[in-house]
Amino acid sequence: MSDQERPAPLRLGSIAPNFDAETTGGPINFHDFIGDKWVVLFSHPEDYTPVCTTELGAFAKLEPEFTKRGVKLIGLSANTIESHGGWIKDIDEISGSKLSFPIIGDKQRKVAYAYDMIDHQDATNVDSKGVAFTIRSVFIIDPKKTIRTILSYPASTGRNTAEVLRIVDSLQTGDKNKITTPINWVPGDDVIVHPTVSTEDAKAKYPDLKIVKPYLRFTPLPKDQTSAAN
Ligand code: BEZ
Repeated sequence: MSDQERPAPLRLGSIAPNFDAETTGGPINFHDFIGDKWVVLFSHPEDYTPVCTTELGAFAKLEPEFTKRGVKLIGLSANTIESHGGWIKDIDEISGSKLSFPIIGDKQRKVAYAYDMIDHQDATNVDSKGVAFTIRSVFIIDPKKTIRTILSYPASTGRNTAEVLRIVDSLQTGDKNKITTPINWVPGDDVIVHPTVSTEDAKAKYPDLKIVKPYLRFTPLPKDQTSAAN
């Protein structure tokens, strides 16, 4: 696909492109799959590759935490679902996981192109025939099908599943409480009152408000009031 043919890049706030695809859990229509849930869609360069193998095992082990937050996981690799099936057996054997979320078979790279998961500029991320691998992309999509987070990692660097979950917690907790989350926040830490809330309203709403600067106002938010409750 030439640069001219490439779809417009996806941005935070874009509606996640819809598609039909074969997956290891059967055929899906992506928007129907999302339904009224949050979704983490993540791509891998290739089946039977070492870093990807560790990543999928880790996502499978953390899946119950995503499920608790109303989040569905779905992976993608530019191979067939038959290939994925054999690889999943290895992943479960190696990591002790029981991988049950679907993995899209995107051999023709249809979804990968729609989501700009091909790094055409990274000359090192190619297979033995020079065909570009999909990169390690992560899309966090909300129930309105809006893309809320986009992450891209190089082939050489495995992702951090705890960070993906932390972003989900920040987004879901922020949507519910009109707060934002500071650097390295984890559920239970103080949060930042959203800049659109006046200090007068913040004082009324948050009795333990700490005003560091007029634009930097913290309040405690116990873990049981975040999406990480339970
Ligand atoms: C890996 O998953 O180990 C990998 C995949 C493609 C290129 C380099 C590493």
